[in-house]
Amino acid sequence: MMKLRLFGALIASAALAACGGGGEDSGDTSAADTSADSAVEQTAAAAEDTADTAVDAAEDTATDMADAASDAADDMAGAAEDAAENMAGAAQDAADEAMGADESAAGSEEGFTIAGLTGDPEAGRRVFARCRSCHVLEEGVNRVGPSLYGIFGRETGSVEGFRYSDANASAGITWTGETMFEYLENPREYIPGTIMAFPGLRSEQDRADVIAYIKANGGLGDEG
Ligand code: HEC
Repeated sequence: MMKLRLFGALIASAALAACGGGGEDSGDTSAADTSADSAVEQTAAAAEDTADTAVDAAEDTATDMADAASDAADDMAGAAEDAAENMAGAAQDAADEAMGADESAAGSEEGFTIAGLTGDPEAGRRVFARCRSCHVLEEGVNRVGPSLYGIFGRETGSVEGFRYSDANASAGITWTGETMFEYLENPREYIPGTIMAFPGLRSEQDRADVIAYIKANGGLGDEG
């Protein structure tokens, strides 16, 4: 009987407490008040824990989402950059091709005599496709290899702003149709230690043609 009363009082007291009335006018024993209070406290503490957990979870989720968003943004920026680079490269290549087509058409009327052969700039344009991944003919544009603008008449290793190997820098050769004709047959034999990763052109005619193409398209520099 006593247990039931206590229980009832506890419920009533808890209800009052929950409604903001506290245990003030319950009129019950202090033991019941104390139990009721501690029940309310426990409930409140549990609620607080639950709230904390929920806040933590929400915070984690927000952080994860922010991270994922930032990763996605990074990926997109990277992809956009790559695409822009590819497009710039393709545009440059197309421009090179167009220029090559114009100028070598003019050059092919003259022809160039190299090592006793007649070099055809138009035919050389196709051979130069094998050099184009590393060399261009625009002045001051170094890629994997140095710009070949104005290369004829220069000493080996003298294109400004290009970091040559010691071997190429100190070869002490002057580039002419003749020396380049020999060099291009087997670059690693002609300049031992060169870092130019190109095996060479076996065909004499290909060499004469590519040299004619380079001469007709900027290789002679301001004199060309
Ligand atoms: C894979 C890239 C690559 C290809 C392909 C390539 N070259 Fe090179 N070339 C280089 C590099 C790198 C150097 C500088 C070598 C060094 O410093 O040892 C170089 C150097 C040269 C030089 C000497 C330049 C100087 O200032 O002394 C000439 C001439 C040359 N290349 C012509 C050609 C020609 C013509 C072709 C095509 C038939 C060609 N290269 C293909 C990368 C390349």
